Amino acid sequence: MAAALAWQQLFAPPVRAQSPDAPDWLASGEVFTLGVASGEVQPSSVVIWTRLAPRPLRADGGMPAAAVPVRWTVARDARFERIVASGEVRATPEAAHSVHVDVTGLLPGQTYHYRFEAGGQTSPVGRTRTAPAAESQPTRMRVALASCQHYEAGYFTVHREIAAADVDLVVFVGDYIYTTEVPSYNRVRRHPHRFPDRHERHTLADYRIHHASYKLDADLRACHAAHPWLLTWDDNEVVNDYTGDHDADMDDDDVQAFLAVRAAAYRAYFEHLPISPSRAPNGPRMLMQARYDWGRLATFWTVDTRQHRDPSPCRRLTQQLFNGKLLRDCPELAEPARQMLGAAQESWLGWELASSMAAWKFVVQSTQVSPGTLRAPFGRVVYGDGWDAFPGARERLMQAIAQPRVPDVVCLGGDVHRHVAAQLRLHPEDLTSPVLASEIVATSVSSKGLSEVVTSWIKSGNPDMLHARADQRGYVVLDVTPSHIDVEFRGTPHPVRPDARLRTQARYRIDRGIPGPRRA
Ligand SMILES: [Fe+2]
Repeated sequence: MAAALAWQQLFAPPVRAQSPDAPDWLASGEVFTLGVASGEVQPSSVVIWTRLAPRPLRADGGMPAAAVPVRWTVARDARFERIVASGEVRATPEAAHSVHVDVTGLLPGQTYHYRFEAGGQTSPVGRTRTAPAAESQPTRMRVALASCQHYEAGYFTVHREIAAADVDLVVFVGDYIYTTEVPSYNRVRRHPHRFPDRHERHTLADYRIHHASYKLDADLRACHAAHPWLLTWDDNEVVNDYTGDHDADMDDDDVQAFLAVRAAAYRAYFEHLPISPSRAPNGPRMLMQARYDWGRLATFWTVDTRQHRDPSPCRRLTQQLFNGKLLRDCPELAEPARQMLGAAQESWLGWELASSMAAWKFVVQSTQVSPGTLRAPFGRVVYGDGWDAFPGARERLMQAIAQPRVPDVVCLGGDVHRHVAAQLRLHPEDLTSPVLASEIVATSVSSKGLSEVVTSWIKSGNPDMLHARADQRGYVVLDVTPSHIDVEFRGTPHPVRPDARLRTQARYRIDRGIPGPRRA
């Protein structure tokens, strides 16, 4: 922690060196307004990111319609006395002057510092680390799990704590931005940019400005600069509740119009995050599924539950409640073929799990896998946007863990705005079925959760949810060792205040060889 704090003091304002005849974009002042970030950790490489944006709330970021050279440097120390790699790339207007460098030739299991220079200015310093060597046996790693950061619903104080925390990785499982606004009575601050009401009018410029406005939050920038991040997305990176090629708010005949919106959203997402240039989107398609090994201790598979998902069931039935969010008496639920991951990703994940030699196997996806249905007097009510609405796909995921038996699988998720510790069964709603794996879901960074009354109601009907609390915002720390994982749920009351202090809400432990978390 002391080292982390000492490092934070180095997270100083950038150096400015302007000549009197500086071009227009430099005359606007600070160029590295959106900070720096890193991700895609491998034993010998890491991706570092920045974007030049002297006027971040303009569509062009205040940059000229021309490419600009950017120098990058990676060093062993924060003062850049031991430089190990450097180079120059061109930041182009086509990529919103974003820079993604896949830095190779690094040593495994090491901390590195990085920075960028452009137009005589130097960026803040970022810190990152490489994964341990492939065959190594790390004795410990620490992960921060987070999701759902509605800018208007609370401050990003959670990120301030993670930035100062002793963690190796931040795993962010979706809803990085929200295009929606929260009602004024729940709002603590306003998005600087408003999206057009109609989804088909959302443009690349809207998404770029919106991503930039999130990055203007100093706590979010600090968290990116402090640790490498692994990411997957949920729906709000594009629009709320979209599934595959379909948007619940747009006519089904408008698939092409929606794919244009999705292409803009995916592109802006890539432009603002430390994702490998090899995964840059191609139109409305972008590869999210990826694998990251942490020596023999852990493997993380980032899984995409949105891009290849079938439409939510029973969208047109009158039994829908709350605008299709909740379903009851829906015969389509029983159709086994409906997909959450898509056939190709599903078989990839099954093969990866079956062949993995890692002690811990983390399936990194956006939402809650274990059942969270509501048992109401008038029948069983299902959340139409999660795994409960895709029971066939969930059974196939569980089968992939059951046959051949894959031990020590932990599903990580978010989306539901509550902390959850759960056990995962082969047949999820059958309490006689064996427990096969564990699930840890992080509450939101800021987005509002369900009431405690409804959460208790859900918990009482789903005995596999061992822990469930929706009243606090926060994140989860996973302290991973070869014999067990200590899980610490951190939280603060809603809405998150700028000066909030997080506390430990609950602790759980997952023992190696014993599926399911237990209260610690
Ligand atoms: Fe969310």
